[in-house]
Amino acid sequence: MIKPHGSDTLNPLFVMDEGKRAELMKEAETLPSVVVCSAAAANAVMLGSGYFNPLTGYMNKADSLRIAKEMKTADGLFWPVPIINMLKDVSAIEGAKRIALRDPNVEGNPVLAIQDVEAIEEVSADEMAFMTKKIFRTDDMDHPGVAAFNSVGNYMVSGPIQVLNFSYFETEFPETFRTAYQIREEIQRAGWSKVVAFQTRNPMHRAHEELCKMAMRDVKADGVLIHMLLGKLKKGDIPAEVRDAAIRKMVELYFEPNTVLITGYGFDMLYAGPREAVLHAVFRQNTGCTHLIVGRDHAGVGSYYGPFDAQAIFHEEVPEGALLIEIYEADHTAWSKKLGKVIMMRDGKDHTKDDWVLLSGTKVRAMLAAGESLPQEFSRPEVAKILMDYYQSQAAGN
Ligand code: ADX
Repeated sequence: MIKPHGSDTLNPLFVMDEGKRAELMKEAETLPSVVVCSAAAANAVMLGSGYFNPLTGYMNKADSLRIAKEMKTADGLFWPVPIINMLKDVSAIEGAKRIALRDPNVEGNPVLAIQDVEAIEEVSADEMAFMTKKIFRTDDMDHPGVAAFNSVGNYMVSGPIQVLNFSYFETEFPETFRTAYQIREEIQRAGWSKVVAFQTRNPMHRAHEELCKMAMRDVKADGVLIHMLLGKLKKGDIPAEVRDAAIRKMVELYFEPNTVLITGYGFDMLYAGPREAVLHAVFRQNTGCTHLIVGRDHAGVGSYYGPFDAQAIFHEEVPEGALLIEIYEADHTAWSKKLGKVIMMRDGKDHTKDDWVLLSGTKVRAMLAAGESLPQEFSRPEVAKILMDYYQSQAAGN
């Protein structure tokens, strides 16, 4: 099986032993504690799950700045995005060596993890601006990732963590939330050697279905890991439970049995385009996948990134050998009226604009909200129905 990033075996930071966990929970109640921001909580879930192997906790300022600048920690580990715990107010933990991190996303703010504090560093406005620009390629506060990154405070609390639960992901998505080590086990159990990962934060339409099938065919994969984001999204994006239901229906009806793992991970979307694509590659390698599909405007938002910037970064900025996982680069994919099937646009060179069925996300949302059915060439009818039901219930105020 493909090795995890940066180590021979996966080192998830979730405390596996139940007794030990109970002990730590008890200890946590005696420690100074803080409610962390949602991004830091998601980072804890990802660290606990083994997705962020080989990290041992939250990064410090030196690592974060170097990663922003050149995708390397101070020690030279390849890493694309700082994994940090930022706070607005550190008065409750000043001088503490060990602290409890409380979950902002679960009622009553239960303890999510324990952190050994190595440093509390103030990050200057210039340093924040530098990281923002490097990670997001823009400092426009209208960019949802930029706005989130700059709203969580200026104190960086670094140090190793022990993760005690998986926040709301395990309880809200028991069928879908999986850790990286669970996915490794499932891949092993299935006996797959080549596995393609498909990142998604959307329901899957015909283009997405076909992308998975094309990638599997082209790399001769044994299976595909559909790996959906279960964390926070920007306003207007479709909730995870609706996407999950739509994806499950599509797989049930339109994929060969035993070729798909439907799973999700607990992380808030960064919308960081190219940098996020690289992070996606790192954590899919940690799940044991050999390939990651990167298509058009991967992890993008608005028009902040060029449609294929998230592919270009792998050629331009990821050093040779830094990752073992391979990128399956997909061109814009759509239904060809001429051929009566979904193809990549680069394979329809003789096509004119009218030969394609193309619908923007905005148009799709408007159609669903207006109760108009989506064209069969764009969306499987069973998938469209699930989405339509959701939009109609929204319109009815449910
Ligand atoms: S993302 O933010 O998670 O990347 P989305 O779920 O829409 O958004 O996309 C999942 C994957 O499919 C990404 O790799 C994206 O580039 C790719 N993709 C989505 N739609 C298309 C399309 N029409 N053509 C090619 N690739 C696409």
